Amino acid sequence: MKNILVTGGAGFIGSNFVQLMLNKYDDVNIVVFDKLTYAGNLDNLIPVEENPRYHFYQGDICHPHEVDEVMGRYNIDTIVNFAAETHVDRSLMEPGGFIQTDVYGTYILLEAAKKYQIERYHQISTDEVYGAVLEGRSKETDKLHTRSPYSAAKAGGDLMCLAYYTSFNLPVTITRGSNNIGPYQYPEKAVPLFITNAIDNKPLPLYGDGLQMRDYQYVQDHCEGIDVVLRQGQVGEIYNLGTGVETTNIEMARLILKLLDKPDSLIQPITDRPGHDRRYALDCSKIQALGWRSAHSFEQAIAATVRWYVDNEWWWRKIKSGNHYQEYYQRQYAGREIKN
Ligand code: NAD
Ligand code: TYD
Repeated sequence: MKNILVTGGAGFIGSNFVQLMLNKYDDVNIVVFDKLTYAGNLDNLIPVEENPRYHFYQGDICHPHEVDEVMGRYNIDTIVNFAAETHVDRSLMEPGGFIQTDVYGTYILLEAAKKYQIERYHQISTDEVYGAVLEGRSKETDKLHTRSPYSAAKAGGDLMCLAYYTSFNLPVTITRGSNNIGPYQYPEKAVPLFITNAIDNKPLPLYGDGLQMRDYQYVQDHCEGIDVVLRQGQVGEIYNLGTGVETTNIEMARLILKLLDKPDSLIQPITDRPGHDRRYALDCSKIQALGWRSAHSFEQAIAATVRWYVDNEWWWRKIKSGNHYQEYYQRQYAGREIKN
């Protein structure tokens, strides 16, 4: 693992992963390959932009000639694929782009991995492929019960990776992470949306009764787990990555308000997301056997995340004041308030 192609490396988790790998190892070269969609942001990579072991290539994983060019130019031996359309609510509005990038794009990367006979292809997946889990915890061997276009597209990508392992012996690994929080998360996702709205004394739009449960993990812990799988994981295997602790959305919103010293009255219930998965919960014993566990509790992760958004208004104000964001916000939230 010397020359790593990090697709989607200008997004939230990918950029945290790039920073981690360049800081942790002095013998890896990282090439970020990113289309720079609305969610891709070169500001996320400012901390590494002067590093001689970091390179950036703007490209689309759905374009085989661009993928091929970068594979050859940088002598890539490892691909870590973060590139995806990632927001459930957008997948309900426009599913086509999800199928394109998350399924077809994965296939293009797998073809390139096969052609160049690379050492490892690693797919970043999600706990959402297991669907809502009302009781117990999802194991890697569980059946997939996808319910949103996003999770269905991600599951399609996972299954294609496993097909390339079985059919062509491609050295594939997959991680399925729970919800990440931390620096550089685009403020459409619940936690950064709630934090930045609260800073501005704007309502926090809470779907339904707010009793849905998520396992919120700190992004750096997730990235460390991916590194463990790259180094110690078995090819053909899937590894769940999460804290194993679930929190309701209303508790998450209240904690954010408390940390910012804002009133609970900012919480605004709105009509629920269609098909909203009630709970995700992971069994992480397989990765724990390799020595990994989350270093941050939910409370520590949320406190560090709130601090980062308070200290980095330059980063998110640029995004939230842009036309793209404002049009999305209007389309997604206008007129959904539940009056009591
Ligand atoms: P993100 O939306 O912040 O970033 C996605 C990145 O992919 C962006 O930089 C974007 O420009 C790039 N991209 C999108 N389409 C592309 C294409 N066709 N070609 C090249 N680049 C493209 O996403 P994120 O939250 O950092 O998620 C990264 C990965 O982790 C995704 O695969 C996601 O499914 C998975 N995941 C996310 C979470 C989470 O809580 N955010 C949890 C588990 C798994
Ligand atoms: P999100 O960050 O979109 O992640 P995911 O749906 O992929 O888990 O949402 C996290 C939780 O917060 C989820 O249960 C939906 C809920 N939510 C709200 O209540 N309001 C919002 O405005 C958003 C975006 C999410």
